[in-house]
Amino acid sequence: MEKDLTFIDLFCGCGGLSLGFEMAGYKSILAIDCWKDALETYAYNRPESRTLCADLSTASPDGIKAKYGIQSVDVIIGGPPCQGFSIAGKRIIEDERNKLYKSFVNFVGIFRPKAFVMENVPNILSMGNGVVKESILSDFKSLGYEVRHQVLTASDYGVPQNRKRAVFVGLAQGKMFEFPKPFKSERITSFEALSDLPEQSIADGSTYPTITKSDYQIWARTDNNQIFNHEITVHNQRTVEIISMVPDGGNYKNLPVDLQSTRKVHIAWTRLNSNKPSFTIDCGHRHHFHYCYNRIPTVREAARIQSFPDKFVFLKSRTSQYKQVGNAVPPLMAKAIAEQLKDLL
Ligand SMILES: C[S@@+](CC[C@H](N)C(=O)[O-])C[C@H]1O[C@@H](n2cnc3c(N)ncnc32)[C@H](O)[C@@H]1O
Repeated sequence: MEKDLTFIDLFCGCGGLSLGFEMAGYKSILAIDCWKDALETYAYNRPESRTLCADLSTASPDGIKAKYGIQSVDVIIGGPPCQGFSIAGKRIIEDERNKLYKSFVNFVGIFRPKAFVMENVPNILSMGNGVVKESILSDFKSLGYEVRHQVLTASDYGVPQNRKRAVFVGLAQGKMFEFPKPFKSERITSFEALSDLPEQSIADGSTYPTITKSDYQIWARTDNNQIFNHEITVHNQRTVEIISMVPDGGNYKNLPVDLQSTRKVHIAWTRLNSNKPSFTIDCGHRHHFHYCYNRIPTVREAARIQSFPDKFVFLKSRTSQYKQVGNAVPPLMAKAIAEQLKDLL
């Protein structure tokens, strides 16, 4: 019998990145984060999984290896949050702000997986005029990994969203990773992603009140007949009046001049465009609105935009749910990377 490929997810959040690897047939053997809410969601959706709530800036990879009796793992995945790297000369140095990245490197050094996948914000590649990128490449090279990196756009891989992430993939034993080519099919639009979800709330656990209108929706409903996390936000009258003046795909520029600066940020009063993939969804800052309803997307709609299937349920407060969804790597983009990698493992 063929053995499942295994992975450890560092900074796992609710597990968007993990889910992509699971969809590609890998098995999570440990997922670590310091945020309890996200770990509850992670575990709820994967009753067999093992999660650890720990601060990765201080956690010892040796200690964790011993405690969990992990002999080997095929891949380490994760996205260490970077609060701006500090560099000295051409190196990322040992410093408070670099601790989470260094922790990821240390885990790779101790567990020595066959491969690692590290994702981050796209501008990590230009930080310090490229010194951060070069330093990352050389840190992993000195551990014996051949590293490739690229900025990927989620909508190239069947995700109805234009989110971009920088991805580093390292392989031991001199193998070279090729990033997945963009899928040829048309980009999935916001309409295809959301149009079966109604304007009003649906009580958690209800069956779908509508039929599907796209192949993407059929995919999202796979193995599922109950809907969760579709509770709408009821905005105040003024907000509803203002957003109702913004057309599908429009923004504050469509408002009368005196209303344009009613919110300080430029991304305010933006509506999704029903004919295009969504822009990068935020973590619930209430600036981006549905393409036709006068409200922000529900957590379920945000999850659809991120390519979480409907059977994936988000736990804890609504604010926390938005943050869990917004933080995640789109599962379908992660799946494309995981499948490409599988051929080499
Ligand atoms: C961008 S999110 C990860 C999203 C995740 N990869 C996904 O696809 O769902 C970053 C995560 O790092 C976690 N984090 C931040 N600082 C941490 C620390 N010191 N120790 C452990 N986890 C930390 C946060 O709680 C957050 O869940």
